[in-house]
Amino acid sequence: MTVMLSDGRPMPRLGLGTWPMDDGEARQAVTHAVSLGYRLIDTAASYGNEAGVGAAVAEASVAREELFVTTKLRGSQHGYDAALRGFEESRARLGLDYVDLYLIHWPLPRRDLYTETWRAFVHLREQGLARSIGVSNFTPEQIERVAGETGVWPVVNQVELHPGFAQRDLRAWHAEHGVVTESWSPLGRGSKLLDEPVVTDLAAAHGRTPGQIVLRWHLQLAAVPIPKSANPERMRQNLEVFDFSLSDEEMARMETLDDRGGRMGGDPETHEEL
Ligand code: A2P
Repeated sequence: MTVMLSDGRPMPRLGLGTWPMDDGEARQAVTHAVSLGYRLIDTAASYGNEAGVGAAVAEASVAREELFVTTKLRGSQHGYDAALRGFEESRARLGLDYVDLYLIHWPLPRRDLYTETWRAFVHLREQGLARSIGVSNFTPEQIERVAGETGVWPVVNQVELHPGFAQRDLRAWHAEHGVVTESWSPLGRGSKLLDEPVVTDLAAAHGRTPGQIVLRWHLQLAAVPIPKSANPERMRQNLEVFDFSLSDEEMARMETLDDRGGRMGGDPETHEEL
């Protein structure tokens, strides 16, 4: 099950998130995930677990080409040369010849270096070291700026997205511009969102778990969720969301949860994580 990116490459419709996992946990979780059928693995330099992810990929029962590995540039490595160095460091820790998707983790607008960073990303893509390039936590204005200055559009914008923070306007803008929406914290971090009566009622009606209902909601919005789980049973459940669907009326009920809790993570306009 894949979605076609605007650069012509397919990306799996759902993946495994690995934050917060250390190297050992990530190695174990990714190994198990691949055996269950996960093909997209999402990590980042700042998670501190690229070596664990890479070890699991190296040991995986499937060929490298079957897997789609995403990593992200940490904020302290914005700028052209620093970004190229940051990529090489990630690639070395992962032990990979190439990554499938490389993302700018945060725009850090106050430093105003993300356009230079994006030029480095374009270079990495031209070299085939990053097969696809995208961004995370960017606004439409920031995406238009990097695309306008380089002529190369990010294929993905990975943003916080869950029923309590549904990002309707941003998703519509992505769809209009051919940018795939990838959802971080798709389960709202396993919070009380999963106990909301709307979700538990739908779970009962479909004979599914609340997590499965929420992940199905993402798929039907054409977003790519990357739920994190280190628990083998929840990892299995989270992948089993391709054999049922929510009706329009059920999707509308899910919409009533928007703004329930709102944002849980950093605000891209002000986030200064290095
Ligand atoms: P665990 O690793 O013990 O499964 P998010 O991806 O939105 O950040 O959510 C991740 C959190 O939700 C983790 O704490 C994870 O814990 C938990 N989680 C993952 N899958 C499920 C699920 N299907 N139901 C409930 N909680 C889940």
